[in-house]
Amino acid sequence: MPEETQDIEVVETRSPAGTERFGRSLADRLRRGDCVALVGDLGAGKTALVRGIAAGLGLDDRHMVSSPTFVLCQEYPARVVVYHLDLYRMSDPGPELEDLGLDEMLQEGVVLVEWADRAMDHLPRPLWQVSIAITGPRRRRFQIRRLTHSAPPAEARKESP
Ligand SMILES: Nc1ncnc2c1ncn2[C@@H]1O[C@H](COP(=O)(O)OP(=O)(O)OP(=O)(O)O)[C@@H](O)[C@H]1O
Ligand SMILES: [Mg+2]
Repeated sequence: MPEETQDIEVVETRSPAGTERFGRSLADRLRRGDCVALVGDLGAGKTALVRGIAAGLGLDDRHMVSSPTFVLCQEYPARVVVYHLDLYRMSDPGPELEDLGLDEMLQEGVVLVEWADRAMDHLPRPLWQVSIAITGPRRRRFQIRRLTHSAPPAEARKESP
């Protein structure tokens, strides 16, 4: 299905604490049912951003947030439950996400996904996408987009059975 991309903003941070602050501000826009796809290399700051988002959603204990590389999914008790997924080790993300209960997670809370580029086709739309680039030893550039499926053009609709 064709996809529409709405570029929302670019933010640069200069420290892990700056990234957490940015995550807190991002949390203000998130509601139950929202999914955030985090895309960026090892050490880009995906987990640091999750720590900020979870704090912004009301999680008191920031130490609960770590890379869930061996767990696949962690759950944090914030004002709305936060599910933190890491697809790094998933070999076949489609069925694995279904087994983990992605649909149920979205009904219950907010879902934050590290290494989301491994499974973009299996994540819901609309989808927040945050791409992170390492721009210096302590600098990170975050690009935020909102992805939605666009309706097929009128001609295509007429031709389909
Ligand atoms: N501006 C910054 N924002 C976030 N992290 C930064 C920044 N500057 C330096 N860092 C460092 O980069 C690393 C980011 O680690 P983090 O675990 O958040 O990355 P990640 O993208 O989750 O990696 P992984 O793919 O291994 O899970 C930390 O060591 C942190 O101290
Ligand atoms: Mg991580």
